[in-house]
Amino acid sequence: MDVKGEDGYELWLRYRKVDNADRLAQYREAIGSAVALGKSLTTDLIKDELARALPALLDSDVSLSEQEPAGNALVVGVAKELEALDVTIPPAQYRRLGEEGFLIRSHQVGGSDWILITGNAEPAILTGTFHFLRLLQTHQDIRDLDLGSSPRIGRRILGHWDNIDGSVERGYAGPSLWNWDELPTIDARYHDYARACASIGINGTVLNNVNAQAKSLTTEYLVKAAALADVFRPYGIRVYLSPLPSAPIRLGGLATSDPRDPVVTDWWKEKVEEIYRLIPDFGGFQVKANSEGQPGPQDYGADHDDGANMLAEVLAPYGGVMLWRAFVYDTSIDADRAKCAYKEFVPLDGQFRPNVSVQIKNGPVDFQPREPFHPLFGALEQTPMTLELQITQEYLGQSIHLVYLADMWKEVLDSDTYAEGPGSTVARVVDGSVYGHTLSSILGVANTGSDHNWCGHHFAQANWYAFGRLAWDHGLSAEAIIDEWIRMTWSNDKGIVEAIKTMMLGSWPACINYMTPLGLHHIMKEGHHYGPNPAFNAAWRPDWNNVYYHRADAEGLGFDRSSSGSNAVSQYHDPLREQFDGIDTCPEKFLLWFHHVPWDYRLQSGRTLWEELQFRYDAGVAFVEKMLDIWQGLQDGIDPQRHTHVGRRLKQQLKNARLWRKVCIDYFGHFADSDGD
Ligand code: GCU
Repeated sequence: MDVKGEDGYELWLRYRKVDNADRLAQYREAIGSAVALGKSLTTDLIKDELARALPALLDSDVSLSEQEPAGNALVVGVAKELEALDVTIPPAQYRRLGEEGFLIRSHQVGGSDWILITGNAEPAILTGTFHFLRLLQTHQDIRDLDLGSSPRIGRRILGHWDNIDGSVERGYAGPSLWNWDELPTIDARYHDYARACASIGINGTVLNNVNAQAKSLTTEYLVKAAALADVFRPYGIRVYLSPLPSAPIRLGGLATSDPRDPVVTDWWKEKVEEIYRLIPDFGGFQVKANSEGQPGPQDYGADHDDGANMLAEVLAPYGGVMLWRAFVYDTSIDADRAKCAYKEFVPLDGQFRPNVSVQIKNGPVDFQPREPFHPLFGALEQTPMTLELQITQEYLGQSIHLVYLADMWKEVLDSDTYAEGPGSTVARVVDGSVYGHTLSSILGVANTGSDHNWCGHHFAQANWYAFGRLAWDHGLSAEAIIDEWIRMTWSNDKGIVEAIKTMMLGSWPACINYMTPLGLHHIMKEGHHYGPNPAFNAAWRPDWNNVYYHRADAEGLGFDRSSSGSNAVSQYHDPLREQFDGIDTCPEKFLLWFHHVPWDYRLQSGRTLWEELQFRYDAGVAFVEKMLDIWQGLQDGIDPQRHTHVGRRLKQQLKNARLWRKVCIDYFGHFADSDGD
C-alpha cells in the first residue's frame, strides 16, 4: 500500500499504480498503445493527460502517438478523425451526444480491440478522457464498454466570491487563487484549477464576488480576466463576471445607473463590446442587485426585470447569459424573510428576456445545514432558473468540519415541486425539462483558495468533486459519487473505502443534529457564521437576529410559517402545502422551520420535542466521535501527512459539536424548563 506523505494538491487526479493484479493485467492487455488524434490546444491537453496517467496507472511504458495504432489500443478523436481510421459510428448517435457529450466504446478492428473515446467537439473528448481514466482509477472492468454520457444541465459553473485584493468572501482555504496583481502573467496553478474543473465537467467560472467591485470592469482588469479565459478555453471552460450594477456611475462618470436610461444602456453596450473583444467566448454576467445593500434597479424605481433585461439585451448578440440572483429579502415586503424572494419575483414571471436565468439558492433563507427547497422553483413557469448551491461551508463548519454535501444537494434536486404534477422535481425544473426551457444552469459557490490542498480540508475537496459530478448528471447518487471520489483520492482498499464512506454519508445528518436539528436554522454566530449563538438578538435588524428564526419561548420552539402563522406554506403547491401546514403531517426534518411546536409535543419517536432535541444533539456529537474513531483506525492505510491533518480537524470538529450541544441545550433548556418539563 502506498502510504508516502501526500499534501492533497493532486486532488482526485492521483494516478497511482493499479494495485489489483487482475485489473492491471486487463488494462495492460487492452491499452497496448494510446492514440490521440487531432491537432489543437485541447488535443494537447488530452495527450498530456494520457501521458501523465497511463504509465503511472499501468506502471508500464504505454506508447502514445498520433498514428493509426497497431494492436490493442485506446483511440481518442472526434467523429471525422475516427472516420479517417475507417471507424464509423452512426450520425444519430453523435447527434444524441450533443456538443458536450462523449462516447466510450469497445470496437474491433481486424484482430485488435480498440477502446474509442469520441464526441462532437474536442472539449467533450477531454471530458470523456477524464471519465475513462476514472474507470481505471476506480478499478472498473473495461471490457465491452458502451458508455454514452451527456450533461443534463447546460451551464455548470463555479462561482468565486473572490475580491480583487485577494480576499475571498466566505473563503476558508486561504487567499484567492487569482493573483490579480500579477495577472495577466499566468501562474501554473491556473492550469491545474482548469484541469480539475474539466475532469468533472465544469464548464464555467465566475471570477469575482457577487458583492462586486466596479474595478473588475476596468480595461486593466478585463485584460487580466482575458488572460485567465485564454488558459481556461482549451479545457472547455468559459469565464463569467459579476458586474457592479452601479458601474455606469462609478466607472463611467454618469449621473445615473438607471437601466431604463438610454445613456446607461449605451455605456453597458460599449463595456460588453470591449469584454467580447477581449474574451470572445465570454459566458455572461451574474448580478446581485438590491440585496444586502448592493445597488440595483430598485434604486431608481425600476425593478429586477428592467435591470436584467437591459443587460440581457446587451449580451444577447454575443450569446451571453444574464444570471440574475433572487437572493433578496426586504422584510418590508413580508415580515417572514423566507417569503420575500417569491413575492418579488413571481409577479415578474414572463417579463424576462430569453437569455435571463433567475438564480435561486437551494432554500429560501441562506445556505443553512438544511432547508426545504426554495418555493420559487415551483413558481416561475416562464423563466429559466439557475440553482445556486454553496460548496464553501459558510454555515456548516467552514473548512474545519467534515461534512459531505452531496446528500443535501440530492435532497433538494429530488424534491418534488408538483408544479406540473408529480415528478416536477427541482432537478427537472433546473435542467429545463419541466417547463421546456433550453437555457439551463447550475452554480456552486466555490470552496477553493490558494491553500496547497485547495479547499482547506482534504475532505472538502469531495464537495467540489460532487458538485461537478451532480451538475453533469443529477441522477447520480451521493453514494456512487463518493465511492469514486474515495477510490481516487484515498484508496481502492475495500475496508478503507467502506470506512470512509460510513464517515462521509453520516456527516451531513450529524452536522444537522449538532447544529440545527428538526428544522432549526440561522442560529450561528453573527458575522462569521461559525459556532452557535441562539441568544443573538440585536434590536437594530430584526431579520438578522437569531431569536427571529427560532422563536423560543415558554410555550415552545420554531417559526410558525403555517397558515395560522406567516403562511409561507402557501408558496408551495399541494400536496406539499397541506403537508407542511399540519404539525402532524409536516416532515419532522422541517418541523421547526414551519411550526412553533410546544415543548411537550410528542414526535414519532414517542419523545417530547424537548427530549427529541437533546437526543438529536447527542446523536450529532456521537457521530463525530465515531468519525474520529474510524479515522484513527485508518492510520496504517492512509499517508501520514493527510491522516494527521484530517485527524486534527476532526478533533476540532468534535470540540465544536460538543460546544454546539452545550450552548443550545443550555439556552433552549431555559425555555423548555419554564414549561415545567
Ligand atoms: C450570505 C453570505 C454573504 C453573501 C450572501 C449572498 O448572506 O453571508 O457573504 O454575500 O449570502 O449570497 O449574496
